[in-house]
Amino acid sequence: PPLIITIDGPGASGKSSVARRIAQALEVPYVSSGLLYRGVAYQVLRYGVNPDDEAAILGLLEAHPVRLVPNTHGNRVLANGEDLTPHLHTAEVDAVVSAVARHPRVRAYVNARLREVPPPFVVEGRDMGTAVFPHAPYKFYLTASPAVRARRRARERADDVAAIEKMLRLRDERDAKQSKPAEDAQVIDTSELTLDQVVGAIMRYLPA
Ligand code: ADP
Ligand code: CDP
Repeated sequence: PPLIITIDGPGASGKSSVARRIAQALEVPYVSSGLLYRGVAYQVLRYGVNPDDEAAILGLLEAHPVRLVPNTHGNRVLANGEDLTPHLHTAEVDAVVSAVARHPRVRAYVNARLREVPPPFVVEGRDMGTAVFPHAPYKFYLTASPAVRARRRARERADDVAAIEKMLRLRDERDAKQSKPAEDAQVIDTSELTLDQVVGAIMRYLPA
């Protein structure tokens, strides 16, 4: 099968940092599904679309297609040639993204963009190993306690750690439906591990 490595898990479990480092080590692109959902959520906010209105979001995506440009070092999300990436990791997007991502047709749109990417690649998200790339030969699911995840994210955001933990727990709940480890995924609790240790643990499962 083509080389696809899936890394799923909740917010701030380490998915994107770990996926990027594995991708760099293997010299293949890294693909962030969450960044696409964030791109859609940003457009919803910017155009004043109701996040609960699935048909309106699909209309918005038809008028302004959102696309992902993957590469080894980071991903960019574009709409109408405009780079949305600098606006996607904010508390405003965090607050609305799960509501946008719960619509089946929004998920189908994002999944179609992901399936256009030619393997090999490392892809991270919530349901990469279950719904989108069920035949991927290497699957991982990262976890960490909410307190640890909140402390990690607090180093990247202006908000205080309590507000961040509250939002992470809320997103965990809202994302629960698409956030199950695949039966054939290796589950790694990263709470007590450094980034290097997580990367090392994953590399041990991959072909040399
Ligand atoms: P996710 O993509 O799952 O939301 P990130 O990769 O963005 O998570 O990680 C969130 C933050 O936590 C980043 O600043 C990252 O450097 C840090 N981080 C990730 N994994 C670890 C770890 N095992 N130990 C310490 N810090 C980590
Ligand atoms: O890095 P963090 O986990 O905070 O966020 P992300 O991976 O960028 O994902 C942002 C949001 O997109 C999640 O909270 C989910 O609502 C949604 N998402 C999803 O539903 N399915 C995915 N495969 C990836 C993200």
